[in-house]
Amino acid sequence: MILYYPFYFLFLYYFGVFLPLCDSGSSDPEIQRFSGNLSHSDDFKLILRDGDFLIIGAKNLIYNISLTSFETVRRLEWYPSEQDLDSCVLKGINKEKRCQNYIRVLALKSDGGLFVCGTHAYRPKCRDYVQTANGYEYRNETPGDALCPFGPDQNNTAIFAETKLYAATPTDRAGSLYSISRLPLQTRPSDVLQLNEPNFVNSQVYGKHVYFFFRESAVEFSNCGKVIYSRVARVCINDQGHPSFKSLWTSYHKVRLDCSIPGKFPFQFNELQSTSDIIRGSYSGRDPVEIFYGVFTTPDNALSASAICAYTMGSVQDIFDNGRFLGQERFNSIWAEVPESQVPSPRPGHCVPDSRATSDARVIFTRDKPLMAGSVRPLFGHPIIIQTNPRFRFTKITVDPQVETVSGSRFDVIFVGTTDGHVLKVINSASNAPNGHENYNKTLPVVIDEISVFPGKPILNLLIYRTIYESKLVVVTDSEVQAMPLSKCEKRANSCGKCVALQDPYCAWDISRSLCTSARLRIWNRDNFVQNVEEAWDNRCPDGRPPGPNDPGGGSDVRNGDRLATGDRHSLGGSPPLTAERNSGTDETTGSNCEIATSQCFSSDTLAFGIVTSVVSSLVIGFILGYIFSHRCKKEDPGVCSPYADGRAYLDHRTLSRHLPNDTYGGLGVPAINKPINLVLNVPPKNGKNANSSADNKPIQKVKKIYL
Ligand SMILES: *[C@@H]1O[C@H](CO)[C@@H](O)[C@H](O)[C@H]1NC(C)=O
Ligand SMILES: *[C@@H]1O[C@H](CO)[C@@H](O)[C@H](O)[C@H]1NC(C)=O
Ligand SMILES: *[C@@H]1O[C@H](CO)[C@@H](O)[C@H](O)[C@H]1NC(C)=O
Ligand SMILES: *[C@@H]1O[C@H](CO)[C@@H](O)[C@H](O)[C@H]1NC(C)=O
Repeated sequence: MILYYPFYFLFLYYFGVFLPLCDSGSSDPEIQRFSGNLSHSDDFKLILRDGDFLIIGAKNLIYNISLTSFETVRRLEWYPSEQDLDSCVLKGINKEKRCQNYIRVLALKSDGGLFVCGTHAYRPKCRDYVQTANGYEYRNETPGDALCPFGPDQNNTAIFAETKLYAATPTDRAGSLYSISRLPLQTRPSDVLQLNEPNFVNSQVYGKHVYFFFRESAVEFSNCGKVIYSRVARVCINDQGHPSFKSLWTSYHKVRLDCSIPGKFPFQFNELQSTSDIIRGSYSGRDPVEIFYGVFTTPDNALSASAICAYTMGSVQDIFDNGRFLGQERFNSIWAEVPESQVPSPRPGHCVPDSRATSDARVIFTRDKPLMAGSVRPLFGHPIIIQTNPRFRFTKITVDPQVETVSGSRFDVIFVGTTDGHVLKVINSASNAPNGHENYNKTLPVVIDEISVFPGKPILNLLIYRTIYESKLVVVTDSEVQAMPLSKCEKRANSCGKCVALQDPYCAWDISRSLCTSARLRIWNRDNFVQNVEEAWDNRCPDGRPPGPNDPGGGSDVRNGDRLATGDRHSLGGSPPLTAERNSGTDETTGSNCEIATSQCFSSDTLAFGIVTSVVSSLVIGFILGYIFSHRCKKEDPGVCSPYADGRAYLDHRTLSRHLPNDTYGGLGVPAINKPINLVLNVPPKNGKNANSSADNKPIQKVKKIYL
């Protein structure tokens, strides 16, 4: 039965979310806004930091805005030519919505110039801009095929490495062809082994390679229906191709990124949505490593769930450098690991001084066997945080690496955007747990804050701007860019206990000034500041008491959510109780796809049983709690009605922030409300529909499609 434990939480959550919306309308002086064209949406998406300036790729325009004042310093217009516009419209494509020049590649050149590509009314073009005294000028315009997508919805990524552009993009109008290229080198068009309906997410330069992150149809899994897998691929920066294989990469290989809840039947988050930059940090007392974070979701037609997993670059490199290659003997035969004896030398994927001089056999091997066996397992062995609210998924992620606390420990502060316009601020509070076997894979996610930035609109991009003078978070949706403080210590806590309970690495209680502050001064004057990110309380705070499991109302008032928080953390991302049940038989370190396939196909009965049990129990619990609360709410001010103490427990957090009557915190903070706590909040929504009844069939239908 313990197997179904996570599903319990999935469904409890499912029924706990039909809540009234409380949008933030107030304007906060600490928020800076940039809206560009006020009458038409600029279709913001792409941003690039240039020192203290932000370059924004928009529709027919590139803005250069100051990150300090958030005002436009320069603007560059690039409309599609009449001719291209006409031929686009003639093809029956919507003129206003698609036949424009959507800027999709922005790269700074070492000479200060700006390399730009745009969809240019479905005829992509690139330009090399230089700055002049009165604006920008371009030297030449080149075709953008294989560098830039054709349409505004196609997903691409591009990066400069050693003065050359590496691009991963769809390469035709319909989006049915795609490539990873550094012209003239390219992946083989229409070769499903190399790329199979990919959606590109990010690219990074690391060591001797350029890495590409994407999701695609899993060719090794195709006999069990279509499944999307997440991948990381890489090519050598010094790849020069091979004369017998014109324009083909000689170093392109890829491997699956695994983000799953381990167990006998792992719960998979297969669809990569975003990755962070590669950062360096130290975790659980281990030696410093380079890692990146990724946001993964379930498929659109499945139970809505998102997760964040971290990976070390070491584990990625290890698979490319030492793992097995996957191959098929004939077109339809099963996928199997290629025996080491058949692997040519020097090993495919290693960067050789001159790829043109290597053997044909080595290039053929690389061309025909781009996929590595197995998958990259996440750091800690499981996701750092999982969320299962059906109203939204995670979209973009950015990380402020290794933020130092008063005690000298360091935390990665993760900011993640959602499809409904929120930004979550998350840490793994166990990332500094002392070195030891029991702590090795421990994670304790804490959602420090949930900020409603663009209610109802997806967050399309995030960026952290940090200098010695100021720091801010830049958040992008299609019609607006906002900048906001990374923390709001003073507004969110007015006492020592509350300040420490925020568990925010940026916030510490200043004893001499009696203030919850993010002042960087704390690093140099540690004795004057109280902070305890790991435990959320400190005995120097008069209003801070340690929370105890048998002390439901105990601790400082802001600790009330802890019981729930701890429960969630364990099921929603802490070391899952099923870890012990992990069955090495389903370990995907081999190319035995049929084994994987059968275990997933086979598991459906088991899952179905778990799901049904969970649905029924959730309905019952939800109904009882909903009934209790609907009665309470009638009596009290809706703002105080929320049973949640503060927002740290993820489940209650968003409900509370939506529940605040007049948004005194600009949607940015959640004050503590001293009320008892409960598992599910079912408050009648403002439209009068009963929360329990709105949980009737919709989610259950959705549920039926999942993995069954
Ligand atoms: C806003 O966009 C519309 C349509 O693209 C354009 O006609 C107008 O000139 C733009 N306004 C400004 C101030 O750029
Ligand atoms: C943006 O504008 C600033 C100020 O004029 C300038 O220094 C910077 O080079 C510009 N960046 C780009 C990429 O045009
Ligand atoms: C691009 O990515 C977004 C976000 O994952 C997705 O919603 C969209 O469908 C993708 N576009 C295409 C053409 O697949
Ligand atoms: C931690 O997780 C890794 C990756 O899943 C696993 O190989 C390792 O055995 C785990 N270590 C402990 C001590 O549980």
